[in-house]
Amino acid sequence: MLTNRIFGNELKYLEEVLESGFRASSGASMMQRFEKAFASKFDVSHGVAFVNGTATMHAALEAWGIGSGDEVIVPPMTMASTTFAVLQCNATPIFADIDPKTFQICSNSIAENITNKTKAIITVALFGLSPDMDPIMALARKHGLKVLEDNAECFLGEYKGRLAGTIGDCASYSLQNSKHLTSGEGGIVITNDEEFAVKLRKIASLGYSGVSATSGKVTRQEIQSPDYFRHVSLGWNYRMPELCCAVALAQVENIDTLVKRRKDVGELFSEVVRPFRQWFVPQSTPSYAVHSYWTFAAYLARDDITWYELREKFASLGGDGVYACWKLTYKEPFLANMEVLGREQFISQRNIDKYQTGICPVAESLQPRMFMFKTNYWDWQKALSQAEILSETLSHFA
Ligand SMILES: Cc1ncc(COP(=O)(O)O)c(C=O)c1O
Repeated sequence: MLTNRIFGNELKYLEEVLESGFRASSGASMMQRFEKAFASKFDVSHGVAFVNGTATMHAALEAWGIGSGDEVIVPPMTMASTTFAVLQCNATPIFADIDPKTFQICSNSIAENITNKTKAIITVALFGLSPDMDPIMALARKHGLKVLEDNAECFLGEYKGRLAGTIGDCASYSLQNSKHLTSGEGGIVITNDEEFAVKLRKIASLGYSGVSATSGKVTRQEIQSPDYFRHVSLGWNYRMPELCCAVALAQVENIDTLVKRRKDVGELFSEVVRPFRQWFVPQSTPSYAVHSYWTFAAYLARDDITWYELREKFASLGGDGVYACWKLTYKEPFLANMEVLGREQFISQRNIDKYQTGICPVAESLQPRMFMFKTNYWDWQKALSQAEILSETLSHFA
């Protein structure tokens, strides 16, 4: 039986892959079909699929030639993969603070952190909302920096009438199981830069010659020849499996429905929180943006009750699906204790000092107070009852 979020052609496409016996030569591969469908939804020329939305970002930075001695600016309040990708290519992550209203990486703080070593900025559309991209792009163009939009949490969000993900030099998406679209695991990079797309494909495909921006396949004629040199560059084996691509293709076909439900739930929660917004402060959606609500986020701006007390009340009334926000990435032990598998040699003392408490005061003050509420409800009655429980919880403390 299909689940509520798996209601399209998933089984049909899975059967196609299984019936092919995984013969890459049999018809158009699911990877190609998924990439084409995804890229065309965003009206960009190329999509390159990856095994997840961390490999995507590592590959993008590698494809731009970012490595030892380079700095990449990232936000601290997000999932750690954004920073992992920087360390994976031996570059140094530099943290820029967030805006207190939108919780998004802030261009003023980015500007303060740009040095002659900065090569790229990774923006994160945190919780499903695009950051204010115009000033970020202006800084990037002024300093010759690449911009990667980490949109793992943002499908079909909008910024000034444009789809989030079409503003930077490329955008990365995750299809891990908590995301708007899922194939269990998976990822994709979209871009209009063909040369970059070829590099991405090579990195994802063990540096194989013969692969292109649109195809990861090597012809039988080539692969059977004793004269065939396979590996023309260093590569990783980061390809998305065909079975995952089959599910992902079916999910892209239903992307509007999948995103709409989360938006509806996010908007429902926004309404419920409105009377309490002086002390339970929701993420602010500026008029230039359309939020895609991977989650509904709000922070507790009172000191007379704790995060745990509010969560406990919510749970006691039957609330579920509430999460705290990740620890700030530079406070996670891997960076705070420099457990970075030898990468510490690439991080100068200046930057180690930069990972101390106090470098991003806004993010530091908000993270312990932040609540993230699930928007992935397929039963609308359940969403309504969760919203009601949140309202009762907040009324209790009002
Ligand atoms: C903002 C952000 N970036 C990157 C990732 C990593 O994606 P994946 O789990 O597919 O590697 C995630 C979530 O998983 C995320 O939320």
